[in-house]
Amino acid sequence: MISPFVREARDAATSTSPTTTEFSTRRRGLRSPVSYWRGAASPVDQSATVTVTAESDVANARQLGREISARAGFTGGDQTVIAAAITEVARNIVSYAGKGEITLTAEAEGSQPGIVVVARDAGPGIPDVSSALREGFSTAGGAGLGLAGVRRLMDVFEIVSAPGKGTTITMQKWRRAQA
Ligand SMILES: Nc1ncnc2c1ncn2[C@@H]1O[C@H](COP(=O)(O)OP(=O)(O)O)[C@@H](O)[C@H]1O
Ligand SMILES: [Mg+2]
Repeated sequence: MISPFVREARDAATSTSPTTTEFSTRRRGLRSPVSYWRGAASPVDQSATVTVTAESDVANARQLGREISARAGFTGGDQTVIAAAITEVARNIVSYAGKGEITLTAEAEGSQPGIVVVARDAGPGIPDVSSALREGFSTAGGAGLGLAGVRRLMDVFEIVSAPGKGTTITMQKWRRAQA
């Protein structure tokens, strides 16, 4: 069965209004996340949702991301990347939305396990997503990855954001085939 978390995220990500901005990147050679999500045979190994309101929740989400990606067999380097990406979107929720949640789902299909991260909030939204994604846009003075860094490091990165309606970021990373 399709994971209810992923279904919810997909539905949220596809219910657009005229003011909604969407942005996505996908590494070449990776399956479309939507067709992947529709693959009812995909087993969901593990899923967890963290409510994010404070810096301590950011730390929890980061730690959970590290654990899930370790269990999925990601290299230490990839675990660090995934944890850093989760840290960035979690900290953005605290800074800009005040409250949100992050769902981490380990997915396995054949020999290519991966992690799907959905960060959702009902905050103010991002008025200009393409500016927010520009390298160097970050207002944090270079600390942290920024959304541009997250986008660069993850295999799939999608934002759906509408002023007044909040922001949903879906990102995925897939384990490379073993040598
Ligand atoms: N969840 C969010 N809700 C509203 N605005 C956001 C959210 N995440 C990011 N933003 C906006 O996008 C901009 C870029 O974010 P980011 O690249 O993480 O850089 P930084 O957080 O350092 O400013 C932020 O400055 C903020 O205006
Ligand atoms: Mg940030």
